[in-house]
Amino acid sequence: MKKYLVIGNPVEHSLSPKIHNYWIKKNKIDAIYEKKLLTEKDIKSIINDIINEKIHGINVTVPFKKSVIPFLDGLSHIARETESVNTVYKKDGKIIGDNTDVKGFENAIKNINFDIKDKKAFVLGAGGVAPSIIFALKKMGISEIFLSNRTKDKAENLKKIIPELQIVNWGEMPIFDIIINATSLGLKSNDEIKLDFSKVGSNKLFYDVIYSPEFTKFLLRGKETGNQFENGKSMFVYQAQLSFEIWHGIKPKADKNIIEMLKND
Ligand code: ATR
Repeated sequence: MKKYLVIGNPVEHSLSPKIHNYWIKKNKIDAIYEKKLLTEKDIKSIINDIINEKIHGINVTVPFKKSVIPFLDGLSHIARETESVNTVYKKDGKIIGDNTDVKGFENAIKNINFDIKDKKAFVLGAGGVAPSIIFALKKMGISEIFLSNRTKDKAENLKKIIPELQIVNWGEMPIFDIIINATSLGLKSNDEIKLDFSKVGSNKLFYDVIYSPEFTKFLLRGKETGNQFENGKSMFVYQAQLSFEIWHGIKPKADKNIIEMLKND
């Protein structure tokens, strides 16, 4: 039986085992998917387990998407560009890191028929998932990207790999068509992003990478201002689908049942 893992800290909240085990069963694959709470010093031994084929693949979540890179033999093009890895596997004796978050976000936006082309985006947060969101926006033809992070240095560091970013002070708000919460603010139900949304206007998209809770205060602000709003659940499903395909060579179905199944938690 092949073994797969999601590693992170915290990792308790992860729905990856649920979705992967569902697809493993559906596709009659002899495998199991578990979650493992790690600290930085444990990464090396997990990678060794992949080398020795005790483990056959891992998903990487917060806060290891970047720090796992030095332990790998090779990266996909998009993992190198974003300096962010969420999927690891062994191929031809080498341990490879890939990034399915970029395509996951792209598919999620396509799925709601929001046309990104020539629009202005405002990204909140410069942590682990931000580079993937930004690369996906660029791929989809965004015209401008504003980035704001509480710790401005981290936003400035991202600008070093993506020079066209326009850095905005935390608390300020530029004119945008799509605003994306890529911070962890909202995971707790009383978390609030302190921005003045009173003048945002209409026909905007509020997108939150967070999917639990289903509707963060940020998304509710989108709703109250009469705008479109979407949580990160479909991005989560699409990134999982692409990881599954990398490992098992089968593209599992990402239908409405999946979203419903994940809701019942
Ligand atoms: P990491 O920062 O280690 O990559 P992450 O979960 O990927 O971890 O990112 C957390 C993001 O949420 C960061 O952008 C973080 O801002 P800082 O870089 O200033 O820490 C943001 N964040 C978390 N708590 C926040 C808060 N209370 N107010 C504003 N931003 C917050």
